[in-house]
Amino acid sequence: MAQNWNPTSWRSKPIQQVPDYPDMAALQATEAQLATYPPLVFAGEARRLKASLAKVAEGQGFLLQGGDCAESFAEHGADTIRDFFRAFLQMAVVLTFGAQQPVVKVGRIAGQFAKPRSSGIEKKGDVELPSYRGDIINGIEFTPEARIPNPERQLMAYRQSAATLNLLRAFAMGGYANLDNVHKWMLGFVKDSPQEKRYRALADRISETMDFMAAIGITPDNNPSLRETDFFTSHEALLLGYEQALTRVDSTSGDWYATSGHMIWVGDRTRQPDHAHIEYCRGIKNPIGLKCGPSMTADGLLELIDILNPANEAGRLTLICRFGHDKVGEHLPRLIRAVEREGRKVVWSCDPMHGNTITLNEYKTRPFDRILTEVENFFAIHYSEGSHPGGIHIEMTGNDVTECTGGARALSADDLQDRYHTHCDPRLNADQALELAFLLAEKLKSGRDEQKIAVNG
Ligand code: TRP
Ligand code: MN
Repeated sequence: MAQNWNPTSWRSKPIQQVPDYPDMAALQATEAQLATYPPLVFAGEARRLKASLAKVAEGQGFLLQGGDCAESFAEHGADTIRDFFRAFLQMAVVLTFGAQQPVVKVGRIAGQFAKPRSSGIEKKGDVELPSYRGDIINGIEFTPEARIPNPERQLMAYRQSAATLNLLRAFAMGGYANLDNVHKWMLGFVKDSPQEKRYRALADRISETMDFMAAIGITPDNNPSLRETDFFTSHEALLLGYEQALTRVDSTSGDWYATSGHMIWVGDRTRQPDHAHIEYCRGIKNPIGLKCGPSMTADGLLELIDILNPANEAGRLTLICRFGHDKVGEHLPRLIRAVEREGRKVVWSCDPMHGNTITLNEYKTRPFDRILTEVENFFAIHYSEGSHPGGIHIEMTGNDVTECTGGARALSADDLQDRYHTHCDPRLNADQALELAFLLAEKLKSGRDEQKIAVNG
């Protein structure tokens, strides 16, 4: 096993999913320029996230990770960011209450631009063009010009990430994330929901808790933790030239960090142990995610854990499982047993999106019921194996899109055409995302109740 790592050592390994840049000199010039730009995140923040995730790995917290499948240059508006954050925070409150544990908040945002594709070619009629690989690489328009990878786009992605992160930091620390606000938004959602009756009980208990705290003098005015929140960013570290340019030594520790986001993950298509993406990730100290699909074997997983987390540090590694509602029962238990047997410390997270994609009326979509079923099965399996169902990873937006079917408003296949805006995979809209949080909160509560029964005998 190669021991010597540096930010360029991935370049000597086999690599998947590489764009065909026509002008290599231009690419190198862009990467050199990016390397002179300020980091987007600070190593100390990544360490803080790691410490929070370590708690989750130990069963003392829950990870909420979500955002667009692919961010786009076209949708870089303040409203889009605000509406996402608003939906996300409401989910976080509901889950915090359900779990009675801290919720670690990680957006798929401010850097989620590069997309792995199942085919390098897209065909429409008789025309074949290179596939769209995300706005950081080429354009989504089905024209030969748009599909040529353009390095300039990396600078645009950097700037958009910086601006997005800036607004998110302001929201998280500047008063917008005040628990009183989030609570009011949440009540608005419940009031308008066709499932109001079902969600009302939980919402009322949150309201009572807030009233009680206010009565004893704990308010956002005198308590910063009620008006601020820790919010972190994450994305798939797919475009390694860009990642390398933003890889920096932390002067306080001497360690290397990816500074393009707090947490980065490796996709299911690029996780070959001797290839470039794993090589890059093993050397940086950030929290790392590893996507696990049906082809992941128990031995393959242990090998990757050895490479990515040799010191068995809690919080370093999050396993993001994406099997499909009907396959999670077949694949998850063997992975849990192998990891538990070897005493490896990981966060178990459930991505109920990517294994549940189907096509209806020529739209890629995901039925809400299948998404919910995968999460429910994930929880049930962990409870029966005695491990901690540590989090969820979802594709969502704060906008009122029509990309996933089902939910309380029963979006049908015929509704998909109305507001189908995604640049890549179908996302839960704000209402569907919140519903998922309410339904999970019920699960988390019954999980806690069962544990109490077990403890109390
Ligand atoms: N600071 C706490 C936390 O982040 C409480 C909190 C404040 C909060 N605003 C929030 C929780 C918004 C969820 C959503 O957990
Ligand atoms: Mn996706």
